[in-house]
Amino acid sequence: MTDGDYSASKKRDDHVSDQQRHTPPHLILGFDLRTVAVICLVVVPAFVYVVGRHGDKATFFLRPLWDSPQKPFNRIPHYYHPALPMATLCRLHGWGPTRDIPRRVFDAVLFSNEVDMLTIRWRELQPYVSRFVLLESNSTFTAIPKPLNFAANRAKFGFVEPRLTYGTIGGRFRAGENPFVEEAYQRLALDQLIRIAGVEDDDLVIMSDVDEIPSGHTVDLLRWCNGTPPVLHLQLRNYLYSYEFLYDYDSWRASVHVYRRGETKYGHFRRTDLLLTDSGWHCSFCFRHISDFVFKMKAYSHTDRVRFSHFLDRERIQDIICRGANLYDMLPEEYTFREIIGKMGPTPSSYSAVHLPAYLLENADEFRYLLPGNCIRESE
Ligand SMILES: *[C@@H]1O[C@H](CO)[C@@H](O)[C@H](O)[C@H]1NC(C)=O
Repeated sequence: MTDGDYSASKKRDDHVSDQQRHTPPHLILGFDLRTVAVICLVVVPAFVYVVGRHGDKATFFLRPLWDSPQKPFNRIPHYYHPALPMATLCRLHGWGPTRDIPRRVFDAVLFSNEVDMLTIRWRELQPYVSRFVLLESNSTFTAIPKPLNFAANRAKFGFVEPRLTYGTIGGRFRAGENPFVEEAYQRLALDQLIRIAGVEDDDLVIMSDVDEIPSGHTVDLLRWCNGTPPVLHLQLRNYLYSYEFLYDYDSWRASVHVYRRGETKYGHFRRTDLLLTDSGWHCSFCFRHISDFVFKMKAYSHTDRVRFSHFLDRERIQDIICRGANLYDMLPEEYTFREIIGKMGPTPSSYSAVHLPAYLLENADEFRYLLPGNCIRESE
């Protein structure tokens, strides 16, 4: 058939299969040969190179194909203004009436070496917490011996001393074991320590990592209102390296429990569908010294992400902090291509220090490295 016949047939009949049937054979062949050559000489070697060098990236980029997101949370709107009385705040959340005496609050954390974060946390929560419970081990989750850093710095925390229950636990030091096993073991010990600290039914227990700091007014709201949910996750703003880089709003692991003997267990995983919006700050890798970054990268549960030893170079780490880039050269861990692409590349600086923990701003000189414009870390 000729081209003229083809356009005539197209006018008569618009099927795609017609177009294929009428394409001259030499065009099919030419197209195929070029494509085959490009695939063999360019695409395949490039693919092999990229997967070899950035295997994790390839798997994370394809994550939407092999993994599905967790069930979405039921988001609870959060109302707050310092001028509003507690009765109004409780009512806005549908939680009233306000209690005559607030619930007692227990704040329970596993400690590694985050002395500054612990200071900011405890100063923020101090007016609302009845009992501070802290457990530390002489082992990291990856079975590396570590000093008892809290014991060495305990004098700095005199302001909570009368309300402190401090416990230590010996590491199991099983080399080669999955770090999550040691982590679970330490969290179980923390569960016992809360009971030793005297927790009773109807007390509130905050379960979160040291760097997941609920805002004071959030805890105050939860301790004053009757009828709050028995278990509630806290949505925290996610920061990276300092409060200068707001990464996203998706931190959810922190939770608050109305304690029930025999039911409530310490944990750092999904407990319920309820998530109270905008309830504080989660600052990941917010360390004063580069050596703290190296320790954390080697010591905690995702050591598999340190794929190349140059990841631990001090100049590289300093450069990444200032750019808000990724320490492990990884893609965002998201479940849709839109989210992965949206979060690719460095986190831009927010230039904002509005609505941060009060103690941090009151002591801005001491904590300069956590505030905008101060990404260069001090030498030790
Ligand atoms: C860790 O602590 C336990 C219990 O106190 C102790 O028996 C053990 O020797 C310690 N190990 C190291 C490496 O410090």
